[in-house]
Amino acid sequence: MDKYLVTGGAGFIGTNLVAKLVKEGNEVVIIDDLSMGKKENLAEIDENKITFYDETITNYAFMENLLVKENFDYIVLFGAVASVADSVENPYTTHLINQEANVNIYEVIRKHNLKIKKLLFASSAAVYGDNPELPKKENSPIEPLTPYAIDKFASERFAMIYGHLYNIPTVATRCFNVYGPHQNPESQYSGVISIIQDCLENDKTFTVFGDGEQLRDFTYVDDVVNAMCLLLQSDVKWDVFNIGTGNVVTLNEVIKTFEKTMGKHLDVVYEPERKGDIKKSYADISKIISTVAYQPKYDLQAGLKAYMENSR
Ligand code: UD1
Repeated sequence: MDKYLVTGGAGFIGTNLVAKLVKEGNEVVIIDDLSMGKKENLAEIDENKITFYDETITNYAFMENLLVKENFDYIVLFGAVASVADSVENPYTTHLINQEANVNIYEVIRKHNLKIKKLLFASSAAVYGDNPELPKKENSPIEPLTPYAIDKFASERFAMIYGHLYNIPTVATRCFNVYGPHQNPESQYSGVISIIQDCLENDKTFTVFGDGEQLRDFTYVDDVVNAMCLLLQSDVKWDVFNIGTGNVVTLNEVIKTFEKTMGKHLDVVYEPERKGDIKKSYADISKIISTVAYQPKYDLQAGLKAYMENSR
């Protein structure tokens, strides 16, 4: 049994990871200020195995005390303002959360010489921006277009550099369009699959921005969580990995597959494409495959089916 700290552990990917860690017999401490995460997301998890703090990662004194007191084996950092639109509206306040608070955690580890087995920072495919090189490889050009993407990239680099300089085993992941249970569909910038699911379930009309031919690598959250666990348990350090499926589909294909899975028609209207929308984004995942033998298990059809079954 190991002791994990998961920041943002009541959020979408965080909750799914915590559920797996607890199932495998680990003890997990969660920090989440519930700005985006929800406590209900943790309802199905054995509460004797988790400690939940309704707290922000920007409370430096709290974080320092916790890290020193608990001596975690593993640290996984999801805690962030995950809305790109929010970062455009509030670049400085989101910066304090999306970057500074992470650097504070690295600094506490360095200052107190904490002996952790691995720290994983959850970065984002957003760091690649709109550069036309496809598929995106880890060494593709980095062109962050928003404060969110800049902070993700900087936190990722700080994780690598703290790792190198102070011998802390760190690793970072760049996820591509993750979907699955506990993803919050409430904003127009929520993951598109959660919005489609909400529309299908509640008979709402879904708006396609653009012609629906935009390409994405939609990745089911179980694959993401498995990939992260493989990286946590392996010897790799000071390196960054794409996590995706390596398959690419259009939004129109997603709609068709979803309708088939649900056995229900989706009302769709088409509107002009969003400003700054990326036409094509998909991952080259050969690095994580060759390094830790990751194999995605869910194509779109299987992922949507699992999503439906696990959302009930
Ligand atoms: C994703 C990330 C974002 C990151 C970006 C860069 C998510 C939720 N967002 O954005 O953080 O900056 O990759 O790689 O993973 N769409 C509609 N109708 C809707 C909502 C969306 O047509 O109601 C379209 C969007 O215009 C887009 C596609 O669906 O073309 C996917 O949208 P979304 O799920 O928001 O993800 P990305 O735009 O790829």
